[in-house]
Amino acid sequence: MLHILRNRKDLADHLQQLRANGLSLGFVPTMGALHEGHLSLVQIAYEKTDHVVVSIFVNPSQFNNSKDLALYPRDVYGDIEKLETTDCHTIYIPSVEDVYPPDYVQPRYNLGEVENSLEGSSRPGHFQGVAAVLERFFTDIGPEKAFFGEKDYQQVAVVRKLVELKQLPIEIVACPTLREKDGLAMSSRNRRLSPEMRTQAANIFAEMQKISKVNTVEELILKLDQSRAFLNSIDGFSVEYLEVANSQTFDPITKHSLQLPRNQWRVFAAVNVGGVRLIDNCALESEL
Ligand code: PAF
Repeated sequence: MLHILRNRKDLADHLQQLRANGLSLGFVPTMGALHEGHLSLVQIAYEKTDHVVVSIFVNPSQFNNSKDLALYPRDVYGDIEKLETTDCHTIYIPSVEDVYPPDYVQPRYNLGEVENSLEGSSRPGHFQGVAAVLERFFTDIGPEKAFFGEKDYQQVAVVRKLVELKQLPIEIVACPTLREKDGLAMSSRNRRLSPEMRTQAANIFAEMQKISKVNTVEELILKLDQSRAFLNSIDGFSVEYLEVANSQTFDPITKHSLQLPRNQWRVFAAVNVGGVRLIDNCALESEL
């Protein structure tokens, strides 16, 4: 039976019962507008824990742009229908007031270098908001494991940092990005793309793949420039960043940082596609 809970009190009562029955909890936090990528997280959570809790909450504190928050796709009834077809056991759909009561003061988290580049510098305050909402959910739900998609690669680093800072006994499980047939990373934001922009959006991953195959640093730096120029030349496209960056510090690669093994580097992209901000990342295939 699928339980749908809409406030912290009901959630606490429900979880108390589960705990009494000795069940381990797997948590999949989402902002709704669910797609196959989210459902794959539910499946992985189901394989690794006894009881899967999915939250649906469009978290205002992680949006640094009020228009982006207003336009973020919302489809709670569609989401519930989708989750009914999965092994999700509990859906938690709190209100903003429930998560952030009037006396709530958002903490300042020392997230370190992850905030200084790529998503961190492009969206000031974004990761603070992500950390804030997840601290609330982790504390209220107390899962053994929590599941995140690698599409938000930097976010996974933020969550690990949060768990370390707050010494929470939660295992963070990073799960592979799911892609459409043409390579576009699945994202709730894709449903906001016009048909023309949806077709063109496949160019982002296509360029990232080409970058990932380049063999020398000089060629890599050249290729990054070419790919940025190519993507910017597509009508409606604007590249926010397209970098090869260290997968732990997220520092973009330079000629001087090349002695490190290639598995420490990834391609990261944020591209505005007809007014819709898309992000993606992939591993490097080449030997640098
Ligand atoms: O990745 C997301 O959808 C959100 O950042 C998350 C983790 C649900 C926190 O609001």
